[in-house]
Amino acid sequence: MKAVIPAAGLGVRFLPLTKEQPKEMLPVVDRPAIHWVVEEAVAAGATDLLIVTGREKRAIEDYFDASPKWDAVLRNNHDVRAYRELEELSSKAHVHFVRQKEPRGLGDAVLQAEMHVGREPFLVTLGDTINVANPPVAKQLWDAYERLHHPVVAVEEVRDAKVSDYGIIKPGKAVDDRTLEVADLVEKPALADAPSRLGISGTYVLTPSIFDAIRATPPGRNGEVQLTDALRVLRRTEPMYAYRFSGRRYDIGTKMDWFRAHVELTLQDQEYREGATAFLKELLGHA
Ligand code: UTP
Repeated sequence: MKAVIPAAGLGVRFLPLTKEQPKEMLPVVDRPAIHWVVEEAVAAGATDLLIVTGREKRAIEDYFDASPKWDAVLRNNHDVRAYRELEELSSKAHVHFVRQKEPRGLGDAVLQAEMHVGREPFLVTLGDTINVANPPVAKQLWDAYERLHHPVVAVEEVRDAKVSDYGIIKPGKAVDDRTLEVADLVEKPALADAPSRLGISGTYVLTPSIFDAIRATPPGRNGEVQLTDALRVLRRTEPMYAYRFSGRRYDIGTKMDWFRAHVELTLQDQEYREGATAFLKELLGHA
């Protein structure tokens, strides 16, 4: 399975931390956010990953590259678990990079994958979105695609106050208790105009027909080519489905979700769970 991971966005919402480093490299527990994203894609069965980067994102490319310096240091009896796990992860998939020349929107980022993807369906999972789920959300979506043979977008119920931050779907007929036909989509609607509370949450299985749809999509908000708008174009000619995934999703491009992901994943880690729980209890006065 091929996976495309857009990671070329600016990260305005995470300034000043993103002034000199990509938001995808922000630490979550003991590894950068994009490590979790790649781990999920690989756990879902991806063996070929294309990360869409841009200027000032070199750190991501270097992170997944071999490092003779660290190999030499670690040969002398150091065992750093997270480093070893990175090596294992890198050995399970081929990681490729393509650059988006300017951050012209998520749709434009996905378009950069066209040559690489060829004629196959492919997974898209955002470089700044961490899902905590079992099975992985990417796997849930891929399984849904294999049943439906048309594009599938992961959705979740969003709070009223958040509706205008999301691409929102207009649901059509229900296929089963998690799967719905998509009747239409709208990018970041005002609450009053939103056709539902089901927000597109950053994991997709797409088919190569998306590329023509992206090309046919004029720039929308902020002059960016939005993936939601391209999906809307595609929906006119092809069935499309939404899948209500099970699990929790964090947009680590926002400070609060980054913090939540960090806490949840720390508490899930065998090495840190006990110490972190004791510390949180002490801090909150429940010791
Ligand atoms: P966001 O919607 O979080 O936008 O992108 P952003 O530009 O990265 O963040 P802010 O608004 O400046 O804070 C969702 C995903 O799409 C990628 C981002 O890297 C992120 O993984 N993206 C976005 C691109 O690859 N290229 C773009 O032009 C825009």
